Amino acid sequence: MPADEVALVQNTWNQVKTNEVDILYAIFKAYPDIQARFPMFAGKDLDSIKGTSGFALHASRIVSFFSQYISLLGSEGTQPAIKTMLNQMGQNHKNRGVPKQQFNEFETAVMSYMKAHVSFGPNVEKAWGDAFDKMYAVIFSNL
Ligand code: HEM
Repeated sequence: MPADEVALVQNTWNQVKTNEVDILYAIFKAYPDIQARFPMFAGKDLDSIKGTSGFALHASRIVSFFSQYISLLGSEGTQPAIKTMLNQMGQNHKNRGVPKQQFNEFETAVMSYMKAHVSFGPNVEKAWGDAFDKMYAVIFSNL
């Protein structure tokens, strides 16, 4: 990805990345079918699980993974590391039966979250779209 896009993604992500619980809540709220995939959350009321330690733990796992991916974007030397982490994640999620459609829902939910919380002009939206495309190109090759 071009350096200016990487900077836009990193700067906007830095503004929300400590809102882990809020981000996972927004994803589950918009897409209950994603929540339903988690044995520990399936069938439970979202507002009542939001404050639990299990919810915080999973929120921080997802957000840290994302933060790691975003921090590795940009420099050529980190491309093998990105591929390795994404392939591993793709395999884990294939084993759980997560379909592409749910990953696309995840993207839509994260994009909406970003739009609501940071200044999100067309250039930022394009940069985020490219970051997701690059991530999903590797993950989807495993599903
Ligand atoms: C773990 C589902 C997308 C990152 C898990 C687990 C489930 C799951 C069921 C196991 C939780 C546990 O029992 O501890 C899903 C579904 C997705 C999705 C349905 C649909 C979009 C993502 C995305 C990311 C991600 C987009 C990263 C940006 C992780 C990480 C773990 C995890 C880091 C913990 C490590 C592992 O066990 O693989 N996911 N996931 N997931 N997920 Fe996802």
